[in-house]
Formats: sequence, structure tokens, C-alpha cells
Amino acid sequence: MNKSITYKILEKNLVKGTVKQGQEITVKVNQTLTQDSTGTMVYLQLEALSPNKIATDFSVAYIDHNTLQTGFENADDHEFIKTICAKYGVIYSKAGNGICHQLNLERFSKPNTILLGSDSHTPTGGGVGAIAIGAGGLDVAVAMAKGTYTLIVPKVLNINLSGKLNKWISAKDVILYILKILTVKGGVGYVIEYTGSGVKELSVTDRATITNMGAELGATTSIFPSDEITKDYFVRQGREHDFSMLVEDENVLYDKTLDINLSNITPQVAKPHSPDNIDDVKSIEGLKVDQVAIGSCTNSSYTDLMKVARILKGKKVHPDVSLVISPGSSNVISMLIKNGALNELINSGARILESACGPCIGMGQAPKTNAISLRTFNRNFEGRCGTKKAGVYLVSPETAAISAIKGILTSPKNLDTDPNISLPEKFDVSDSFFIFPNQTKYKKIFMGPNIKPFPLKEKLQNSIDKKIVLKTGDNITTDDIMPSNAKLLPFRSNVPELSKYCFKTIIDDFNVRCEKNNGGIIIGGDNYGQGSSREHAALVPLYLKIEAVIALSFARIHKANLINSGILPLVFLSKDDYLKINENDDIKIENIINDLNSSSKITITNLTQNYKFDVLFDGSKRDKEILFEGGYINYLKNMKEGEN
Ligand code: F3S
Repeated sequence: MNKSITYKILEKNLVKGTVKQGQEITVKVNQTLTQDSTGTMVYLQLEALSPNKIATDFSVAYIDHNTLQTGFENADDHEFIKTICAKYGVIYSKAGNGICHQLNLERFSKPNTILLGSDSHTPTGGGVGAIAIGAGGLDVAVAMAKGTYTLIVPKVLNINLSGKLNKWISAKDVILYILKILTVKGGVGYVIEYTGSGVKELSVTDRATITNMGAELGATTSIFPSDEITKDYFVRQGREHDFSMLVEDENVLYDKTLDINLSNITPQVAKPHSPDNIDDVKSIEGLKVDQVAIGSCTNSSYTDLMKVARILKGKKVHPDVSLVISPGSSNVISMLIKNGALNELINSGARILESACGPCIGMGQAPKTNAISLRTFNRNFEGRCGTKKAGVYLVSPETAAISAIKGILTSPKNLDTDPNISLPEKFDVSDSFFIFPNQTKYKKIFMGPNIKPFPLKEKLQNSIDKKIVLKTGDNITTDDIMPSNAKLLPFRSNVPELSKYCFKTIIDDFNVRCEKNNGGIIIGGDNYGQGSSREHAALVPLYLKIEAVIALSFARIHKANLINSGILPLVFLSKDDYLKINENDDIKIENIINDLNSSSKITITNLTQNYKFDVLFDGSKRDKEILFEGGYINYLKNMKEGEN
């Protein structure tokens, strides 16, 4: 049968099962990546699993999120990760080396392999033809310990690209255009596979920008073929040995196909507060701009920043605009220094930040109240930038750069400079910021006072009798559940401290309600838990004794995180039942284990309003077994040797 590239890679790395849509399979994980914000928890979990050494080909721990060290907490966490990396043989990337996905693309990505990362933008690796999946931290810890990952074979959505991008239109405009068509839910349940003659019009870093924001489409991952353009990238990175060809067969039968003609795409903008709130730049051109931020794992490559430097060359940033730029890696900075582009950026009035996530995660550069901030990032959820009353607009680096000069949102379409950037024959590839396993001598794992044990659950009870402690609307993000700002980021390894801020953007006293009621149940709307892979959005509710979340639908990674934590994710069968249930209702769920074993349908009694309704557990047999055991760690501990 003719195969998609997705199915080819899954088959190549198959450990258990059959690669057939909807089937549960276990695959070999070749690489993992973590960042520090999710990483502390991942390595605590790895320590709980306690393998002799990691079972992947290699794993990398990046320090890129919490790089501000205004207290001891972040520094302690970095030291913990560094020492545990030495124990298990994980490569450690120091703060300042770069943003995990950009750096991983440059230094470690490989076509035809499977990468699992504890960050939702791990699909960036799809730009070189890898299956790169963002997963919960525990899945990544298990992949390191056992070398495998279990997933349901997704459907494949083919985006067939034709035509050629117009001058100053870039990959960011392409993915924003696709978000306009498909929305933040359009990729759910799919791997998005790019094919067609248009693929050859895109460089590897262009492709990576597109696969990066496949996360915003809700897709499991996104992937491009690995072709001559990919090979050229590997040669320039000095990694030709890591290259292998990957092309789809002819006449593949995809689950869905979308045709996009690149020639039709114009500059796009995602308006506040959702990455799919898309418009043509020209429809709101002239909007006054206060801040422009260029960088993030979406748009911080050498080519992106060279285009920005070309636009800013000899010009001045508008007096009313603060322009900040975070290059994607220390090697990108090094190349910009060598060719003089950094000079051009600084001479224009741009502030050069450390090579890290920085403003993307609200780590500095929060805009002023009511500011309009143009960002080349991938998310613009309310408050994520650190200022609740600010409007974040997502644009391409080209639109960002010209707008920084003009002081108003401006289309780059009429720029008269040449947009073609030629790549250096060899990229800079310094290893100074990496600590490789054979270079380390630490004997003891460092655990500062900020690092607290993570919560674990008991086995699932057959009956739950609890109060509805919160009812939410649609599209609740992991940011809403467990806010992540510069103040809270240092506490990623301290769940008790974080619990005081759970759902803080929605209500003030969620933790108090849970403490008063000895836990409870949450009611969610559609797409509950969208956004980042943040495992803390499940671990903190677990700490607060939340037993179940009943929602209209769940975002993929968050649902997996709830299951891994031992919290039941249940889906309403009727929207009327969602509308009818109220906060503070007492509900009883009986016969849970029997019902899960027999049909996946569970009946709930609303004791306060005196009626019954049915909900569904939409998961695999293995998911149920994990829930029965009270979460993934317990499940693995009770697993017989040799099982996956
Ligand atoms: Fe970092 Fe933002 Fe990407 S936090 S990993 S730059 S989405």
C-alpha cells in the first residue's frame, strides 16, 4: 500500500501493535528533549523510575525558559537538572545556549526518527522530516527510562502546497493563513503532512516555523519530507551524516487533504487573544504599535534575523516603539556578529536579549498597560505576555521589523530591499554551552529547598462523591489552569506553592474551595486544556485532590496528562447536561471501574438537582489501566519486567 511519510516513520520504529489509524501502538523513541520549566518535574519522575541509564539514542535537557535568576529558585532548579543529567547520561544545554526547538533543529534533529519533548512546540523538528511530538513530562520521563512511547495512530491530514511565496511573504504568513482556515481545533487527532511542489520553495527553517505552529492547530505533530533542501541544511550544519531521505509514496490515500497555493498568501496577523483570530495585515494596517518582540522558537533562525537586519539596516526604530530581539541560539548570535548584522540591529535601536524564550513566556519584557505588542511568537493568549491588559498580535518577522520602524502595523509587501538571504557555507556550531555526559563528574544530585516531591494518587476508587468546585466555559488553556508568569515560573518544582495560583485567572479561591471540600470535580467546556504541554495543569489539580474533569471535549496533551496523573477525564454526551450542571452541585459517580471495564460509559447522579446523566471515557484499554492504578508512575511500578 502507498504510505504517507508519517506511517513510514511509525513503522520503522514500531515496537508493538499495527500502524493502522485508531490503533494503539508502542514506538521506539530515538531522542527526547526537555526544557527547564517542565524539566524539573520530568527529572524528578525519571528519578522515581530510576533506570540504570537512559534508553533513548540520546536525550537533551535545555535551559531556556526560566533563565532570569532573581532568586535562588531557578538557579537551584538548573543545578538539579545538571546533576541529574550527569547521573543518567543526558546532554545538558546551559542557559544562554538557545531556545530548545531552534537549537535542537540545528544540532540534534534527524529525519526518519521519533523525538518526544516535554514542550508543546516539539513538532518544530518536523521541519527536517522527524516525527516530533510534544507530550506530558511523565511520558518523556518514561521514554527516557524505557525508550518507548505509546500512542493512538493518528489520522493524516495532507496539506498540498503549490505555487511560490510572493516577495516578503514568509512561512509565518503561511501557517497563520492555515490557522485561519483550520482554526485551533482543526488539527486535533491528525498529523499534518506537507507535500506538493510548494515544499521546495521553503527552507528547513521555514518548514520548522510551519510545523512549530502546528501545535496551535491542535495537531499531534506536523511533518515535511526530507529532501535535497534538508540535505543542504545538514551539510551547512556539519551534520551530513545525520541526513537521510524521506519522501511520500505516490497516490497516498490521506484521511483529509487541503490544497494551499502559496502564491495566494498575503501578510497575515493573529489578533488578540487567539492564534486563529486571523486577518490580513492590510485590514488593520496603521494600528499604533508600542512594542515589537522578535524571536521565540517560531521565528528566531539565522534567516529570520538576517531578514530583520536587512529591513532595519540604516533605519531607526520608531521613538514610540520598544523593539526586543531574542536570537534562537548562541550560534545564530555568533554568525550575526561575524557578518555585521548584529551591529545593524543595535544601530537601529533594537534591544538584543539573551538567546532564550524570554518575553514569549512572560519572562521579562511585559508590555505597558493597554499596549499593542507585535510578536513573531506562536501564542497570544490573554495575559501570557505578563500584562493582562495588553493586546498581542502575532506576525511574521518581516511585518514586525517594518512595523517597528514605522510605529504602526505595516505590511512588508512594498519593501524595496531584496528579501533573499544567502546562507553561510558552514554554520557556526560551537559546543561551548553543552555539557556532554562524558564531560561531567558530579557525584550527587543537587536538590535545593525549592524542589518538593510531586504528588501521587492512590488506586482509583469505584465510587466518587464530590462537589463541583468549578465550572468553566470553552477553550480553557493550560495557562488558565496553572498560570505561568515570571513570578510563578521559579516554582515549577514546587507544586504546593503553585497550588495557591491554580485557576487564578478565572477565580481567586480555587485552592481554598478544594481544601474546604477535600478536593472536587471540575466542569469544562469545549477544548479544555488547550495550549501548552504544561503537566502542572494536571499535577496541581491532583495535589488539590481533583478526582475528575468532565468537559465537552479535551485538548490531546492535557487529556493525556490528566490520565497520567490519575484524574478521570470524562466527556459529556449531551451539551444540555453541561448547561444544566452548576457549580457547587454535589455529584456521585458510582460503579466507575465496572463501567470503564465494560463500556466506557459512566452514569453520574447529580444529588443537588436530582437527575442522572451519562458521560464517556474516551481512551484506550491501557489508559484505563493507568487510571485504575492511580496514574502512570504507579502503573509502571506495578508493570511486569519486559512490558511496555
Ligand atoms: Fe519557549 Fe515560547 Fe517556544 S516559551 S519553547 S519560545 S513557545
